[in-house]
Amino acid sequence: MVLIESRETVEFDLAELLGGATGVRERLGWVALAAHCDQDIPLDATEVAALGGLSPGHWRSLDGLSQRHPRAMLEALLAKGLLIAQEPADEASRRFAQADDAVRAVHWRGLSAIAHRHSRWRDVDTEEAERLFSEASPQTFLERLGPALLAVPECAPAFARLPLEKPAPSPLDALMDRRVTCRNYDPAPLSFAAFSAVLYRTFGARAVSDYAPGVQLLKKGVPSAGGLHAVEAYLLVQRVEGVPAGLYHYHPVAHALEPLRELDAETAASLARRFVAAQAYYAGAPLQVALVSRFERNFWKYRNHAKAYRAVILDAGHLSQAMYLAATELNLGAFITAAINEVEIEQAFGLEPMTEGPLAVCGFGVRAQERVTVEFDPAHKVWGATTK
Ligand SMILES: Cc1cc2nc3c(=O)[nH]c(=O)nc-3n(C[C@H](O)[C@H](O)[C@H](O)COP(=O)(O)O)c2cc1C
Repeated sequence: MVLIESRETVEFDLAELLGGATGVRERLGWVALAAHCDQDIPLDATEVAALGGLSPGHWRSLDGLSQRHPRAMLEALLAKGLLIAQEPADEASRRFAQADDAVRAVHWRGLSAIAHRHSRWRDVDTEEAERLFSEASPQTFLERLGPALLAVPECAPAFARLPLEKPAPSPLDALMDRRVTCRNYDPAPLSFAAFSAVLYRTFGARAVSDYAPGVQLLKKGVPSAGGLHAVEAYLLVQRVEGVPAGLYHYHPVAHALEPLRELDAETAASLARRFVAAQAYYAGAPLQVALVSRFERNFWKYRNHAKAYRAVILDAGHLSQAMYLAATELNLGAFITAAINEVEIEQAFGLEPMTEGPLAVCGFGVRAQERVTVEFDPAHKVWGATTK
């Protein structure tokens, strides 16, 4: 599965500038994005043309192909991982073949697979990125962006609207009013009871159904595409009473933690920071939950399906909202972030990236007494009108 993109890059050449030219050189070239490779792969025009004539599904002998294409080019494509060897001759080829097998085994739709693989972050530090951004220009972020689109698109004039009835305030309204993304966590450990309750209400199975021979479905408090509940909860615990700091998988039927690795407090804190791309306010939560899609479970039914990847992302959104509401009900705060270093999360939990992929990180805990980091509470449902 390969997408070939035309890219224009601008290079600065000091020698040219000193020679009287602009010093700016624009370069146009082809880049391959493959579902089994993390890196972008530069290609030349002959390689692009050759790839279009090579079968993605049938093995061909190298000697046979060499009659139609220059051998050196075929070897270059093998070295780049865009041709896969059935009998890999070296370690790099073996790794390309293994990664390609992993993608094929999961029944990915090509475009979705490439989008997933190449939207993962490794070692991104959002605090550092913000600092560089502010140094690069005297303008503030909002000045650079200009005004946003209207908050509400209006599809008819005001007089033509059909007014609806507002319901009498209910406990659900009260709960939803108090749902505010929490960026200020108390440093004390979270109680075991609150921890267990929010996990159960977010991820726990309320019933198990043997739907058909070999097909077991779970009933949860959230909807899920195909009823497959392919999104798993992988936890990084820092401060929960009675739970050693470490990495865990939540078992939704047993409602139990499966310990994966114990961590000392310093390592847990450092991993927490890396998972959420250095957003210190989320690293300060007592625990993080990586929402990890087991693609193979969803794609078992939705094979090579144009909607399947969207569907698993939607599943993660439902889980996050359930966590917000379950936490809010217990007067806790919750968060979700999509700004995550997927590669670090995969490595920590030992996940093969195209088989099991982190989509977001969420978490919850007791709110701090004081609001140090900004939260969005314009109706003052959580924080008083005088705090930030
Ligand atoms: C998909 C998604 C991704 C988000 N990513 C981030 C993030 O990277 N950093 C952050 O501070 N908040 C993140 N948030 C939280 C939003 O900033 C927050 O929901 C928004 O400001 C509205 O505030 P509220 O949730 O309190 O209503 C994310 C929320 C969603 C739904």
